[in-house]
Amino acid sequence: MALTDFLDLTLAVPDPAELEAFWNRRGLATTAPGQLGTAERPAQLLLREGSYRHVNSFTIACETEADLVAIKARLHRLGLEADLGEGELRVVDPIFGHTVVVTVGAAAPLLPQAPRELNAPGILGRPNRRSEAGIRSFEPRPRRVGHVVLGSTDPKASVNFYVNGLGFRISDTLPEAGATFMRCSTDHHNLLVLPAPVPCMNHYALEMDDIDGIGLRGFDVVHERPDASVYGVGRHIVGSNVFWYLLDPAGGMFELFTDMDQITNDDLWDNELRRDDWDPFAIATYESGNSKMDFFLPSDIEAIAAGREAAGL
Ligand SMILES: [Fe+2]
Repeated sequence: MALTDFLDLTLAVPDPAELEAFWNRRGLATTAPGQLGTAERPAQLLLREGSYRHVNSFTIACETEADLVAIKARLHRLGLEADLGEGELRVVDPIFGHTVVVTVGAAAPLLPQAPRELNAPGILGRPNRRSEAGIRSFEPRPRRVGHVVLGSTDPKASVNFYVNGLGFRISDTLPEAGATFMRCSTDHHNLLVLPAPVPCMNHYALEMDDIDGIGLRGFDVVHERPDASVYGVGRHIVGSNVFWYLLDPAGGMFELFTDMDQITNDDLWDNELRRDDWDPFAIATYESGNSKMDFFLPSDIEAIAAGREAAGL
C-alpha cells in the first residue's frame, strides 16, 4: 500500500505539562520539549498548549515521493489544496481543522518483547516461579500510538477525505452506527470515524505488549483517580483488540490496547462481518464498565464546541 504507518499524534490541551507528567508516570519518556515517546520511537505523542482539548495534527507515512504527488492530485480533485515540499505533504482536514502530515518513510521497527512464561492447561511454562506480572517485576510501557478516533459532524465527508483523498483503506464499516474503520498500516484501524454533534476526538490509543500491560498501567491510572475508568477491560468485535478506555488529566479518553487484527493482504481479509446474530451497536465480545455514554461522546463536548467557535472553526 502507498501509506505505510501512523507515526505521531499531536494533541492541544490547556495544560500540556500536566498531561506530559501523566504520561511520564505511565512509561512514556519526554524525548524533546513537548514530545513523548520511547527509545525505539522517540516522537509519538506531541503536546501543545491550546485553549481547548483537540487534535492539533497527526503524521502518517507513505512509500515514495510519487505517493505524495498522487495524494496532492487526489485532494485537488476533492477541492482541497495541500502543501507539498521536502518529502512532506500537509493538508487541513476540512471538517476538524487539524493538519494531516504525510511524510515519505516508515516507522522505526519495534523489537518484540521476549515471550512471557505462562502456565496453561497441559503447559508447564513457568514451573516453580511466580508470574512477573503477579509480583510486578517489570514496568510495562506503551509501545506506540496506534490510532485515533474522531467524531465527525459529516462522517461521509470525513471518510471521503481520508480514503479518496489521503489513501486510507477501509477495513470494516458498521453502517447502522455510521462507523468506518480505516488503516494506513497493517493495523485493522489507525483511524475510526464516528458520527458526533461537534467535531471532536473520541480517543487516542496506545499499544501495550499484552493484557498484563493494560491491567497494570490501567490500574495505575485508577489508583490515582478512581473515576478515570470509562470502559473495559474487554475485547472488541471489530478489530479484535483487547481494550481499556480511561481518561487522562486533560479529560481526553485514551485506550490501552493489545492484540489488534493485522491486515497484510486485502484479498485475504474478510471485511464482511457476519453480523446476522449480533447487535450492530455491540462493540465488544466481553466487557466491563459502567459509562458507555462517555465512551461515545466526551463529557466536555460543550467546552470543545465553545473552543472551536472561539477559534473560528
Ligand atoms: Fe480504539
